[in-house]
This record gives sequence, structure tokens and C-alpha cells, in this order.
Amino acid sequence: FDVVDLIHTKRDRGALSTAQIDWMVDAYTRGYIAEEQMAAMTMAIFLNGMERSEIRDLTLAMIASGERMNFDGLSKRTTDKHSTGGVGDKITLPLAPLVASFGVAVPQLSGRGLGHTGGTLDKLESIPGWRASLSNEEFYSQLENVGAVICAAGSGLAPADGKLYSLRDITGTVESIPLIASSIMSKKIAEGTAALVLDVKFGSGAFLQDINRGRELAETMVQLGRDAGVATSALLTNMNVPLGLAIGNANEVRESLEVLAGGGPADVTELTIALAREMLTLAGKPDADVEAALKDGRAMDTWRAMISAQGGDPAAALPVARETHVVTASRSGVLVDQKALPFGIAAWRLGAGRARKQDPVQHAAGIDLHAKPGDTVTEGQPLFTMSADEPERFERALEALEGAYRIGDAGDEVFTGGPLIAD
Ligand code: URA
Repeated sequence: FDVVDLIHTKRDRGALSTAQIDWMVDAYTRGYIAEEQMAAMTMAIFLNGMERSEIRDLTLAMIASGERMNFDGLSKRTTDKHSTGGVGDKITLPLAPLVASFGVAVPQLSGRGLGHTGGTLDKLESIPGWRASLSNEEFYSQLENVGAVICAAGSGLAPADGKLYSLRDITGTVESIPLIASSIMSKKIAEGTAALVLDVKFGSGAFLQDINRGRELAETMVQLGRDAGVATSALLTNMNVPLGLAIGNANEVRESLEVLAGGGPADVTELTIALAREMLTLAGKPDADVEAALKDGRAMDTWRAMISAQGGDPAAALPVARETHVVTASRSGVLVDQKALPFGIAAWRLGAGRARKQDPVQHAAGIDLHAKPGDTVTEGQPLFTMSADEPERFERALEALEGAYRIGDAGDEVFTGGPLIAD
């Protein structure tokens, strides 16, 4: 094949054959297709979309670009979840040990944050001693003995996606249903989990803001999973408002510990429980009492075992930032708006996220919210606290927050963009 012919086909709204897609992904992974040619291809896909059969072929070709893991040797069933990413989304932290406390295995291969969305590994690395990289032997033995593992995905899984995702990130081609669906599902299918629950976000802090596009993404991914023999389901959840009260790294671990201790903000707990039920249902345990496992300490025990197994000290103090800056209510009233995206960008600018892949994050940097939309506030009361190691970061974070929140009067419409979990 000639890659220029394939680009013409997609540019002119045609469909690529299985053989063409297999060839293209293989040639790109090996470096025979130039980055600028693949950039043109991804833009053509972004603008013109792909047929379901093309999305399936792209997913399978990306899986075939690397190794596949296999959990047949485990005595437990595997069940996993994936979130399309959001602001304050720390759900994996309480969820993996909660689900594993019922005797199933949760092989959670996670990533790092890029842009305004946080990364699970960055959050966990705020725990002294904890390490994200495990050998294959350590990974399998922890799955068998503890049940929950949250660690870095090796570069061997779907390497084509690794290359393609970096390219999309710098060419404005991330927010595309065929490209997101094949990217996520190639990694999850290659990972070898038997069951998978997708937390597909919509709203201002999500990749796809429109709920209908979120629904289409969810349906596309569920179909890809089922076609590959993975028991797959999806929840469509609201990312207009930050999830919980903590946005950052160490503070998100603190909030996760509250959930594991049976408390925590209502939205974080609700989503954790809903996703746990779904994961356990797919793993053949539809009657598991997940609320009881949060209240009676079983989920917390599994958390401690999971952290210790990866070198972390679950009892160690978490880092605290050198500087804080409190923003107070300018008037009394009701908090009617709190937009996820600007709060995510502000936390990123405070140092919780990274601008380039190789940059470190500052674990104690971030934002703690003291009020959520619908709450009554009085003039002078703290609305949120920003934390950073360098005080000069506060100004840039405040710029991002201009217009991000609003205090109205009792009776004004409160903007949340609908319920947390959509029908
Ligand atoms: N997460 C992924 O892994 N891939 C995407 O394309 C978007 C989110």
C-alpha cells in the first residue's frame, strides 16, 4: 500500500479495508510512515469519522502491535475499570481495593496526568515509598495475594497507541470518538481483563463535552469490548463540576482515605459504589454488599495491603505544600456554578500536573474546595484553598479561575449539568 493513497481515501470520506489498516498501524509502529503523514491521517479521521468496522480493525491492529497479557493462571476472576478522565477523579484509588476485598482481582494499569486531567500514578506517588513499576512476577503475585494492583502499564502493551496518542496530543486530534475508543480499548483488551466497566465522562471537564457524543463513545467502546470477548459495560457520568472536594495529588489520596474509612464527599462515594457494583456484577458477584465493605474496614485493609505490597507506607504522613492561598466568598448567597475545566487547569498551574511528559509533578500542590454548587455561603467564608510550593504560581492559577465560579441568590438555577450518573 501507499500511505498517501490511504490518506486520500480518508480525506475523501472513504473507508479503509482491514488489510489497509493492519498495514498502516504496523508500518507506523515500525517507523515506515512519517509522523506528518500519520498526523494528516488522524486529522482526516477526526474530521470524517470511521465506520464501526474500521474502528474494530484499528483497535485489533493496535493490540497486535504489542504483547497481550493473560490471567488464566490466576485463581480469581479479573475485573477492571477505565475512566475517560476528569477533574478530581480519584475514584480508582478507593475502588480497586474495595472491589478486590470481595475476592476478585483488579489489574489496574494506570497512566500519568497530561494537561488538566490528573493521573492515578501521580496521585499514589505522593505516598512515601510507593512505586508504580512492578515486574511481571510481582504483578501476578500481588493480584493473587492482595487482589488489587495499581501500577504503570509497560510499554509493551499496544505500543502503536503510545505513539499515536503522543502525536494526537500535539496535533489537535484527541477529541475523536474512533480515536479515543480504539486507544482505550486496545490497551484494555491487550491487558487481558475478563470484565471491564467504563466510566465515560461528559461535560465541561471531559474530552467530549456533549452528553450525546459521550453516549456514542460509550456504545462504541462497549461493542469493541464485547466483540473481543470482554464482559464490558459503561456508566455515563457528569464532569461539569469537579468530583469531590480535592483536586491535586496528595489531597486526592487524603480524600480517597476518607471514602475507604466509610465517609468522604457524597459524589465520590456514590460513584465509587456504583462502579464497584457494576464491576462485581460482571465478575459474577451481583449481591456483594459494597457499602458494608467501606463501613467495616475490609476495603481499607485491602488498601493497606496494596500500598505496602508496592513499597509504600500506608501510615506515613502525606506531603503538605509550603504555601497556601485561601479564596473567600465576596458576598453571601448560594454557590451556583463551579466549572470543572478551569479548576483542573488551575490545579495544573499550581504544579499538580505537568506541561511536558518528562516533568515531575508537585505532590502537595492542588486545590481543596470548601463549598460545592448548591451550598449556601456567607461573605468572607473560605470557598477554596490553593496549595503550592512556589507562591508565584497563585496568580496564574487565579487567572484560570476567572469566571469559573459564581455566587447567586437563593432560588437561582444551580448549574451542575444534571445528575452525577446519567440514564
Ligand atoms: N485516554 C486514552 O487512553 N486515549 C484517548 O484517546 C483518550 C483518553
